[in-house]
Amino acid sequence: MTKAEVVATIVPHLDAAPGASGEAFAPANVALIKYWGKRDDLLNLPVTDSLSVSLGRLGTTTRVTTADVDDFTLNDRHMPADDPFSLRLTSFLDHFRPAQVGFRVTTTNTVPTAAGFASSASAFAALVKALDNLYGWQLEKRQLSILARLGSGSACRSVYDGFVHWHAGTSTDGSDSYAQQLDTTWPGLRIGVIAISKEQKSIGSRPAMRATRKESILYRSWPDKVRQDLSSLKTALATFDLPMLGQVAESNALSMHATMLGAWPPILYWQPATVATLQRIWRLRSEGLQIYATMDAGPNIKLLFDAQQTDIVSGHFPEMTVVAPFANA
Ligand code: PMV
Repeated sequence: MTKAEVVATIVPHLDAAPGASGEAFAPANVALIKYWGKRDDLLNLPVTDSLSVSLGRLGTTTRVTTADVDDFTLNDRHMPADDPFSLRLTSFLDHFRPAQVGFRVTTTNTVPTAAGFASSASAFAALVKALDNLYGWQLEKRQLSILARLGSGSACRSVYDGFVHWHAGTSTDGSDSYAQQLDTTWPGLRIGVIAISKEQKSIGSRPAMRATRKESILYRSWPDKVRQDLSSLKTALATFDLPMLGQVAESNALSMHATMLGAWPPILYWQPATVATLQRIWRLRSEGLQIYATMDAGPNIKLLFDAQQTDIVSGHFPEMTVVAPFANA
């Protein structure tokens, strides 16, 4: 099935008259149990489930109107049509585009991109929500989640606030591969972002996932690892057990990176400062400080800790940006 065919099953009246404009916000998210590996490259269908926490007011706000030709503004900067950002957006919008229609899209990230947050998840989630508002489709969140996934896998989780579970599903059309919000709120949870490097990654997550799945024998144990971690994380969430949540998240992230090292050529996103920071975290933990690390496909580290420890943790990592994911809860 193509992306356009999936869109057509969810949005039956793509030629409906648009309103004046559509605007929406979507939060960024950090996976505690990672999505790594696709069973379908085209539709971004994952091999395993994943579970994330959304970052409250940190994310992307997007406004869409129809126009003669596509015209994109990102963080107050007009984007050239041949910029990779514009090309990715245009090809995504093609799946929603009635003939002859262009889109003017204005996107603003409140995620501190310099601090190492990925913005593509919140960007695609905000875009499909804005399109839903523009055309008055009134889709359910589950359907918006499926549409956002077509832009970037992890975007399906950014349709929701709080803790979010993305079900891998088994169907070839991806109709059962959507994200769902969990009931749990954890107002005391804090995420500290330590930016290690702003350099362009050596390899994007898409080719890295493909290479890991194909080349790394270690990837064979990844689905079992995710199954175990999901079950432990659900227990940690039910009992607000920070050490358990932290251990699951850290171990899951390290295992994801381990699968990449088993590929050939090997994939390693870490910089020397990533290792040095991990070792500091482990030393502080051995001295009794409850801090845990997670990392995505890049060198930056996110710390997980309790709000009551904020001053102490900030003292050890003054460069850290602290996020309260449930600030509005
Ligand atoms: O959604 P993508 O294609 O940017 O992949 C995201 C992959 C990780 O960030 C490493 C893990 C995750 O679950 O977000």
